[in-house]
Amino acid sequence: MIYEGKAITVKEIEGGIAQLNFDLQGESVNKFNRLTIEELRAATDKLKAQTNLKGLVVTSGKDSFIVGADITEFTDLFAGPEEDLINNNLTANAVFNDIEDLPFPTVTCINGMALGGGFEMGLATDYRVMDSKAKVGLPEVKLGIFPGFGGTVRLSRLIGVDYAIEWICMGSENRADVALKTGAVDSVVEADRLMDAALAIIEQCNDGKLDYQARREEKKGKIQLNNMESMMAFETSKGFVAGQAGKNYPAPVEAIKVMQKHASLTRDKAIEVEAKGFAKMAKTNVAACLVGLFLNDQTLKAKAKQWEKEAADVKQAAVLGAGIMGGGIAYQSAYKGTPILMKDINEDGIALGLKEAKKLLSKRVAKGKMKPEQMADALNNIRPTLSYGDFGNVDIVVEAVVENVKVKDSVLREVEDQVSEDTIVTSNTSTISIDTLATNLKRPENFCGMHFFNPVPMMPLVEVIRGEKTSDRAIATTVAYAKAMGKTPIVVNNCPGFLVNRVLFPYFGGFAGLVRDGADFQRVDKVMENFGWPMGPAYLLDVVGMDTGKHANEVMADGFPDRMKTDWKSGIDVMYENNRYGQKNGKGFYAYEEDKRGKQKKVVDEETYKLLEPIVKEQKELTDEDIIARMMIPLCMETVRCLEDGIVEEPADADMGLIYGIGFPPFRGGALRYIDDMGVDTFVELADKYADLGPLYHPTEKLREMAKNGEKFFG
Ligand SMILES: NC(=O)c1ccc[n+]([C@@H]2O[C@H](COP(=O)([O-])OP(=O)(O)OC[C@H]3O[C@@H](n4cnc5c(N)ncnc54)[C@H](O)[C@@H]3O)[C@@H](O)[C@H]2O)c1
Repeated sequence: MIYEGKAITVKEIEGGIAQLNFDLQGESVNKFNRLTIEELRAATDKLKAQTNLKGLVVTSGKDSFIVGADITEFTDLFAGPEEDLINNNLTANAVFNDIEDLPFPTVTCINGMALGGGFEMGLATDYRVMDSKAKVGLPEVKLGIFPGFGGTVRLSRLIGVDYAIEWICMGSENRADVALKTGAVDSVVEADRLMDAALAIIEQCNDGKLDYQARREEKKGKIQLNNMESMMAFETSKGFVAGQAGKNYPAPVEAIKVMQKHASLTRDKAIEVEAKGFAKMAKTNVAACLVGLFLNDQTLKAKAKQWEKEAADVKQAAVLGAGIMGGGIAYQSAYKGTPILMKDINEDGIALGLKEAKKLLSKRVAKGKMKPEQMADALNNIRPTLSYGDFGNVDIVVEAVVENVKVKDSVLREVEDQVSEDTIVTSNTSTISIDTLATNLKRPENFCGMHFFNPVPMMPLVEVIRGEKTSDRAIATTVAYAKAMGKTPIVVNNCPGFLVNRVLFPYFGGFAGLVRDGADFQRVDKVMENFGWPMGPAYLLDVVGMDTGKHANEVMADGFPDRMKTDWKSGIDVMYENNRYGQKNGKGFYAYEEDKRGKQKKVVDEETYKLLEPIVKEQKELTDEDIIARMMIPLCMETVRCLEDGIVEEPADADMGLIYGIGFPPFRGGALRYIDDMGVDTFVELADKYADLGPLYHPTEKLREMAKNGEKFFG
């Protein structure tokens, strides 16, 4: 044994070949935490001191090679001074450099995943062999940073600038065939052949058939490009990548700038450039938010896993109502492998639901994401019906009929008589109280909300809503079914609008107030899109539908009259009264035309301004900051109330719900994180400035307390 630690062991395996094996004790995966880096330092020193070695093979004792850095360490690490971050990277890089400089050929065996620091480990060795099912990549940009263990230096020299930019700026996970084609790995074999392949390469190196020193020099030297080529590669990609990433995500473009800067430098100097650039990105608020988001997502996953332990098996599902939502739910369930009955009251409804599912599946086939046989299987998983005939062995029902209390009440009572005593019954209602719907049920403990978002295949969130009488088993089974459908479930308590709509409608309230005070709705959209929303509020209302919006708004106003009831006519009311329902009938705040590809394109309609004129009370001077504050304060305040009222269990649930449910700008981390970043005291001060706009803008007593005590929602 050459070295034995808790994350790494090194031993001689045969004929002077050493094996360095990553196998982090007590963890299911290998990751680069502090301990692993320290041990890699110690293990490398031992290797350097050996005099009789002829080669090194780097392996993993787990199903995956190394999944990347330990992101739970990032928050503390990134909070430190920039200088420390630079030094930290340089210290780690000294280890990778030492591995690269070992006096014998080195090969990494990649199984499972080699991502981020894991792939950078592999890049430090002379050669890489890869399991045909494995994936490699540098996904750091997803956290607002870029590779910091030499990845920008080695990859750009190994596979060329164009591919390196693509891999690093997109953060993609790359399949073995792609990795081989680009030259990122040298050989692809089946998992059980990795060691043999690595040993064969070392033998060829030692026989002089492969020149590993030349390989090494290529990675350590300057990038082989003349001025013109360099200009083309870096300058043109900067523009393209900036356009793709958007101004709120600086890391991808910074990565290109860093590669451009170190293109003419040799390794040690180039690593310094990378370390500086890395530290600069790690200090941005975007990185802090994206790291926070990753950790919140882990929290959600862990909670869902806990629930799954208590869940009943879902072998057969059913959906009631084959409309927009029912069709989407049937598709998603079938495509992800849970057979589903789709019941409607009329043939036309069924035909429409099936057509929707077929359309979605054909798209996957056309994009090469699904084989035609798989499409046939998925379609066979949907059984359309007009009767309750087969409901006896259904494990879970999702009710998705029209949004009407009376209809839903009767449909839910009806289905309860058709299913077994254990069947979980859920409703996809977007506004009606789960307790109201449970009133006339015989087994309210088996009932809860399962709120999907439109379009179902695209939207990741499912709100699982707990009513007063809902059992843990019902929640657990619904969470498990949502997971089986590939969705992210968040468990919330019952209240009007649940979490997402309860927070969204005050935001629309902010919008209505702005229009009343003379703001141009197009300007509001632009300002909010610049702020980071995927679409502005007027456009979003057009997508949601003015009828749906108005109806939900009324439900919310009834639920929270103190702050959501208004005594003035809003722009949304005006659009509704003039039958401008939005995209669904071609006219809302905007008008819609089909473009050449048959997609709906929004255009300006002067008529809207004429219609809005009578409700504009005054022409207030409004800055962009006013617009942002007037939109964001009601949304943030309502999120705070959801937390205080126990609608969500903890801040992570609220923030992730908004990101997954309504596209809250991810780089801002969520509503509560946004308040934290501004400072709770600054937020309260800002809200007080707009106090005369009404109670939607009034901070709660508890928030004022938090401001006074300097508390935060996160940490
Ligand atoms: N559309 C959205 O954006 C959205 C988003 C989230 C939740 N929801 C909720 O989902 C539910 C369905 O909405 P939708 O937009 O799909 O409506 P939809 O009008 O497109 O579809 C409703 C379907 O239910 C059928 N139906 C009516 N009574 C029935 C009965 N007794 N038994 C079986 N089927 C019956 C109708 O024939 C129709 O096909 C509503 O509760 C809605 O609030 C909608």
